[in-house]
Amino acid sequence: MRTIYVLGSLNMDLVIETNNIPVKGETVAGHNFSKCPGGKGLNQAIAAAKLGAKVKMLGAIGYDSFGEKMFNALKENGVDVSYIKSIKGVSSGIAMIVLYKKDNRIILDLGANLKLTKSDVDAFLKNAQKGDIFLSQLENDLDLIGYGLEVAKRKKMRTVINPAPCKIGIKKYAKFIDVLTPNSGELHALLKYGKYQQKPDKLGISTIIETKGKDGYCCYKNKEVISAKAPRVNVVDTTGAGDTFTGALCYQLSLGKEINKTSLNFASLAASISVTRKGSSVSSPTFKEVENFSK
Ligand code: RIB
Repeated sequence: MRTIYVLGSLNMDLVIETNNIPVKGETVAGHNFSKCPGGKGLNQAIAAAKLGAKVKMLGAIGYDSFGEKMFNALKENGVDVSYIKSIKGVSSGIAMIVLYKKDNRIILDLGANLKLTKSDVDAFLKNAQKGDIFLSQLENDLDLIGYGLEVAKRKKMRTVINPAPCKIGIKKYAKFIDVLTPNSGELHALLKYGKYQQKPDKLGISTIIETKGKDGYCCYKNKEVISAKAPRVNVVDTTGAGDTFTGALCYQLSLGKEINKTSLNFASLAASISVTRKGSSVSSPTFKEVENFSK
């Protein structure tokens, strides 16, 4: 089994549900406040580890109780936390999440996530082997992620980027990216060229997997297009569904599987299970749960 190296974010998700979105100057009632270890990096690392993957994560937290909770969540789910740094004088990443009609709106303070350095990346990837997987999202410094991609490619790792939240600047690192997993909005933004929409192959990335919520996925792999709808489920909370998809796909890659209908359907199924439960990292399924769901 290949190791998955995640360079990513850790945010404490502070979630409140509401039936009304406030306008300027207005206060509205919310309910069901909850806290959950999140951040796209942590969510994807945990999603892959819960399925049985060997996962190491490079990330940063502050010296606060939120940081401690996130560190423990990674550890309890079997992620190697030797490269999670605690940084003085800065808060752990915080995501204020408003759940409205089962969809989420997020405000992020990335805090400690922006404090990683190139030497952290070098130390983290020092023992990575050819064929191991490098996974990142866009909640850390973009140029640091670009540096990580470059080092990973030099080591002949397989690189996967979930371009969320979308930053157009990631396009300059396209030559180091093997697999991109944007949602529809992110893909649209990456392909916008003035008034025009370009085709996915314009990005110069050989495999692009567009995640489309209940409409499943559409994978553009060289000249091939593979797509499928997601299984119908009772949606409770979509937070982290894309993270579960990417984490589950990396789990499949770590087993040496190709990106094809079988591995993509597995990722889609895992994401569909996650939306039937509340929370980000806590909602991703175990391997047994995916297996039982598909019976
Ligand atoms: O993708 C969901 C995640 O986005 C949340 O856990 C939140 O922390 C934000 O990073």
